This record gives sequence, structure tokens and C-alpha cells, in this order.
Amino acid sequence: MSGFWSFFIIALTVLNLVAAVWLLMATSKSKGLPQGETVETTGHTWDGDLQEFNNPLPRWWLWLFYLTIVFAVIYLILYPGLGNFAGVLGWSQTGQYDTEVEIADSRYGEFFAQFADLEISELARNDAAMTAADNIFGNNCAACHGSAGRGAVGFPNLTDNAWLYGGSEDAILLSIRNGRMGAMPPMIDAIGGDAGVANMVEHVRSLGGLEHRPEMAEAAKASWAVCAACHGMDGKGNTALGAPNLTDDSWLYGTSRDVIAYTIANGRNNQMPAQLPLLGEERSRVMAAYVLKLSGQVDD
Ligand code: HEC
Ligand code: HEC
Repeated sequence: MSGFWSFFIIALTVLNLVAAVWLLMATSKSKGLPQGETVETTGHTWDGDLQEFNNPLPRWWLWLFYLTIVFAVIYLILYPGLGNFAGVLGWSQTGQYDTEVEIADSRYGEFFAQFADLEISELARNDAAMTAADNIFGNNCAACHGSAGRGAVGFPNLTDNAWLYGGSEDAILLSIRNGRMGAMPPMIDAIGGDAGVANMVEHVRSLGGLEHRPEMAEAAKASWAVCAACHGMDGKGNTALGAPNLTDDSWLYGTSRDVIAYTIANGRNNQMPAQLPLLGEERSRVMAAYVLKLSGQVDD
């Protein structure tokens, strides 16, 4: 906050408090009525004889008002509230968050430390580890991969055995720890414009065993070499690049002609965010075990 706004807020807050005190004092002066005189009315009358008297506030009520003002003053001294003044306690939202994270880390750290010596395949058979992983999945992965891990458009299904980057323990751990960046460049210019894309769509559908127009698919074969660099001569993909296998029935973006044409013409950029900074080493390994199990590679 700039110096001006800080000052503005301090001045406004203090002025408000002073005004509140003044208002209370000004309206609460009891006039000490002389003998025989009655309290004036405000002049308001309802239902013929119901009059409003101009009595001061009851004492206890008045003191409650003063108490709230005293509370405000003490609060503003202890906690941040007056512009840039941090309060004498030095409390802050981020400070509180950091302390809570520290406490949680030391508590959960102990829990996850017991898994440090277990292999990923052993973790996948450990009930305590898998129960914890289930919670982590709900918090950290489900938003993208779906609550059951079945994926969504652009987010891979983790329950099948089709992999962009490989389904070994090491490959899964690497995907989770370091994240992944799948990139396919726009190919429209490399394969002869719109007509080339239309033909290539038919070729991709033929690779995937989908209904297709054979002459168009045949015509695209000549340009397949540029795709093969990443997807392989036979279209089975390349886990080193995250280039998907186009011959199975697992699709990241879908099988419609429009979607395939879009991918080929414009390319794709996709990202799995690295989890190591969020989860740390032990939890990343526990999650690798969880994914291994999700994909059906662990028998009970
Ligand atoms: C912000 C979305 C997002 C979050 C959160 C996320 N992922 Fe991913 N994940 C992706 C995307 C997108 C990909 C595919 C990356 C690509 O296409 O290059 C992916 C890829 C993967 C892969 C590689 C799959 C393959 O076929 O090789 C694994 C394993 C994985 N995620 C596990 C997890 C786990 C476990 C978590 C939670 C700890 C998680 N992801 C959290 C978006 C996310
Ligand atoms: C530089 C490497 C590279 C080249 C060249 C390349 N691709 Fe890709 N392709 C990828 C990657 C990586 C992905 C996955 C993108 C992602 O993770 O979202 C992909 C995704 C796709 C998909 C989506 C698959 C799905 O599951 O939805 C199709 C279809 C596809 N490519 C077809 C082609 C065709 C056809 C060509 C040639 C004209 C081609 N690609 C050239 C790397 C490449």
C-alpha cells in the first residue's frame, strides 16, 4: 500500500472512532430533570396516545457501545488494520499459514517417513499408504484426472494401461515428481494445407481402427514420415516424447474428425505440473504406487 493510502485509511479509521465516541457522549447527557418536570417527548404520537419520550440510552447499553470502541482500539494496536501498521503482535495471514503448514509437515512427515524404505511396488500393497494416497489424489490430482482417475479431454486416463510417458514405476514417478510437457507442433504447412489435413485425418482413423475413407488415408501415407518422427513409423507412439500411440483405443482428445483435424493443423501443448514442490519425495512415491495400482498393474 502506498504511503498516501496507508495514511488515508489510518485517518479514516481514527476519525470514525473519535466520531463514535463524540456521538455517544453528545446523545447520552442526562439532563438531571428538575422536580415536577417531565421528560420531553419527541413529538411523535401513534394510535392516539402512544408517545415517544426523549430518554437517554440505558447505562448498561451505553457501556456496551463504549466497550466495542475500546475493543476496536486494542485490536488495532495488536493486529494489522491501520494502513501499513503491522500491529505489535506481528501477526499476518501468511505467517499463520506458514506455521500451520510447518505443524502439518512435522506431523505428516513422521507418517510418510515410515514408507521411505519401501519399494513402490510394496507401497502399492500397503493399506495405510494407499488410504493416504486416496486422500492426496482427491486433493491434488482429481481436479484434472477425475475423481476415479479416468481422465477427461486433454487429461490422460490413469486407469487404463495406455501411457504417454510409460507405465513403469520409474516413468510414473518421473511424471509425477517433475511434471510433463507434451508438445506437438502445428503440422498443417508440413503436410500440404487443408487438403493434406483432411487426408491425414482419415489415415489417423485407419491407424486407430476407426471407420475411415481408404483412398484419402492412402493419399496421406506419403506425408506420414513427418509424423513418424514422433509417433513412430507404425504409429505406436514414443514415450520419450510423450507422443501418444495412435493405434490403440485410448484417446487424449477424442476420435471425431473435427478434433483430429484440429490437433493435426494446430498442434497441442499440454502440461502436467510437477508435484515434487507440493508433495515432497515420500508423498510423490506413494502417489506413483497409487497410479501403478490404479492402472491395474498390481495384483492383490
Ligand atoms: C493441472 C492438472 C493436473 C494435475 C493437478 C495433475 N495432473 Fe497429471 N497430468 C496432467 C496432464 C495434462 C497430463 C498429460 C501431460 C501431457 O500431455 O504431456 C498428465 C499426466 C500425468 C501422468 C502421465 C500419464 C501418462 O500417460 O504417461 C501421470 C502418471 C499423472 N499425470 C499423475 C498425476 C498425479 C498422481 C497427480 C496428483 C498428485 C496429477 N497427475 C496431478 C494434468 C494434471
Ligand atoms: C514433434 C513431435 C510430433 C510430431 C511431428 C507430430 N506429433 Fe502428434 N502428438 C505429439 C505429442 C507430444 C502429442 C500429445 C500432445 C499432448 O500431450 O497433449 C501428439 C498428439 C497427437 C494426436 C492426439 C492423440 C489423442 O490421443 O487424442 C494426434 C491425432 C496426432 N498427434 C497426430 C499427428 C499427426 C497426424 C502428425 C503428422 C502430421 C503428428 N501428430 C506429428 C507429437 C508429435
